[in-house]
Parts: sequence; C-alpha cells; structure tokens
Amino acid sequence: MHFHITPMKIYSDFSLKNHNTFGLDVKCSRFIAIEDETEVPEAIHQLSDQPFYVLGGGSNVLFTKDFEGTIVHMQTSGIAVVEENDLSVKVVAAAGESWENFVNYCVTHGFYGVENLIGIPGLVGSCPVQNIGAYGAEVKDVIDSVEGFYIADGQPFVMSNADCHFGYRNSIFKNELKNRCLITNVVFRLSKEEKYNLSYRALSEKLQDEPLSLKKVADTVSAIRKSKLPDVHELGSAGSFFKNPVVSQTTLDTLLQRFPDLVHYPANGGVKLAAGQLIDLCQWKGHRIGQVGTYPLQALVIVNYGGATGKDVVDFYSRIQADVYQKFGVKIEPEVNIL
Ligand code: EPU
Repeated sequence: MHFHITPMKIYSDFSLKNHNTFGLDVKCSRFIAIEDETEVPEAIHQLSDQPFYVLGGGSNVLFTKDFEGTIVHMQTSGIAVVEENDLSVKVVAAAGESWENFVNYCVTHGFYGVENLIGIPGLVGSCPVQNIGAYGAEVKDVIDSVEGFYIADGQPFVMSNADCHFGYRNSIFKNELKNRCLITNVVFRLSKEEKYNLSYRALSEKLQDEPLSLKKVADTVSAIRKSKLPDVHELGSAGSFFKNPVVSQTTLDTLLQRFPDLVHYPANGGVKLAAGQLIDLCQWKGHRIGQVGTYPLQALVIVNYGGATGKDVVDFYSRIQADVYQKFGVKIEPEVNIL
C-alpha cells in the first residue's frame, strides 16, 4: 500500500459544531487545518476547484446547512515585535492567534491601541476582514499591513492599510478579495505613549475619577461587555447579528419627528442608527421563538438557546428585519456571513 504523507491535516466529513460560536451542528466535506505557514502553498493547491471558505474563530458566521466544500482553518501562532522606536512599535501576529491572546500581549507589554477591543471573539486573521470595532475603537486604526496569499496563483501579497479599503465593518477582504485570498499575518502599529480612547460614553463615565492604566481600561471594557453581551462559550451567538444601518440626514430628520429618542451617530456618507434600539423598539428584545431569541440585554445579538438550526436563525432574523422595515422604513443587514 502506498501512503501519501503530508504534514498538513486534512479531514473529511468534519463536524463544525466546535468551530462556530452559534454552536450549530453542521459538517463540511473537507476541513484543512493549517498549522504552519509553510503549508499554505499546498493548501491553496488543494482548493483548486471546489467551493471553500476560510474560517477564523467561527464567531461571525451562520451556517444554514452543511458546507459542501472545503473549510480552511488557520491554526498558526506567533506574536513578535518587528520594529520599535521611542514612540511606537510594530508587532506581527499570525492569523491563527486568538484575538484575545494578542490583546493580552499588548496590554501586558504596554502597547496602546487595542485595549478597547478586548473580549472580541475570533482570530487575528479575521480582524481586518470585517474591521472589528467596539467601544469607540476600530482595528483599522492600528493595522499597518496585512500579509497573505492569493488563491488564484498562490502568490504572496502585502497589503498596506490604505490598500485594505477599510470602512465600518468592511474591507477589501469582504469585497474584491472575498474568497480570493488567505490572510497569514497581520502587522500592527501600536503606541508606546500613554494615550486612551475614551470616546465611548459608558467607558469615560466609568473611568472618570479613576487613575488610568492599560489594564484598568481593558478591565473596564471587559466589564461593560459582560454586562451587555453573552459569552460565546456559554450561549451560542455571533455577537451583533446586524450592522448598524447608515441613513441620510433627511431620513433621520423624518424619523426623529416620530421617534425623537432615536440614537444616532455621524457616519461616512450619512448618519448611523443603532440597530439594537430599532429592534428593541419593535418589541423584539429578549423575544424567543423555540430555541432562538434576541439576547435580553442587547437586542442586536441573536442567540441559540441550544439545538437551533441555521434555518431557525434565518427565519427568526428575517422576521426581525421585516418588522424593523415596517416600523422605520430602514433595512437592517446581517453583519454575520451567511453560508
Ligand atoms: N440599544 C437599545 N436596545 C438594545 C441595544 C442597544 O436601545 O437592545 C441602544 C443603546 O442604549 C445605545 C445604542 O443602542 O444607545 C447602541 O448600543 P451599544 O452601545 O450597546 O452598541 P451597538 O451599536 O448596539 C456596537 C457594535 C458591537 C460593539 C458595541 C460597543 C455593531 C454592529 N455592533 O453595538 O460590536 O461591541 O457597539 O461598541 O457595530 C459585534 O460587532 O459583534 C459587536 C458586538
């Protein structure tokens, strides 16, 4: 018998139950685990013609059915300083590192810039894809460049921050490069100077009379998160299910006449509304149908109370979307990737 020995781990008919934070019981036809960057060319070779999807922590995806294709999972690790001066530091982190590890590394080493993003589930390699953001900060403000490989020809690339076309929960990786590349490393530029981003009101209020430190800010953000968002290890969810919608100033003015308390923020090309509030005002907060519901403390999060299917979640979110549209004339779009 002849064995083809490959160092890369490939599994068939693989369960994704532990690879999606919604906890949905789905499978993929093939699962490729990349544990070392040197395996990337071979992995890309394997992707030639079937559908595939590069999965990070599975915290921003909704599987509506079994995935008939290959799931690529980055399991690489490593965080290192590559350049340093008195004011700042450049740090490279492998795509497979957990975001949590990376934030803890920065907080411990006195590198400023990602402390407000503590507690976001997922992997480093996914952070540029949807430009993760929370508590007044967005990862685009600390990304120097993104390294990876194009699937089509296996060529490596280094994309500068400007090349990434970052926007609110958006980047080139969700558009032109969607399913066209594999991100291997993210390079960050972090500050060594003591400076904090306290633009999020609840954060500045909590820290008002406190002596500040990186640890203090990170702990406070963690506490605010815990008070509003479910822990994905305890209750299945994918964080915010919808994006906050951006509407025109005219639409906002009209809406404010009927709903004077609507929360709104300036946004690129218009005004951003809080989808959570819109859902809440439609009486969907904490509402549950079977095993699916909105989180009682934050209506923007859809949770799986156990045993729900992807289809149950789709039916549920479609009803919310329809009600919000009926009441406000605003279409809210899923933030999670629906497969
Ligand atoms: N609100 C309600 N009812 C709700 C939820 C929210 O009235 O059920 C109101 C709040 O009172 C507040 C406003 O809506 O005035 C905004 O709420 P919040 O500050 O909690 O943030 P968000 O806009 O709902 C966004 C991100 C979160 C991030 C938080 C904190 C998106 C899609 N979501 O939520 O990100 O943690 O801000 O900065 O932009 C994620 O992307 O998965 C995520 C959790």
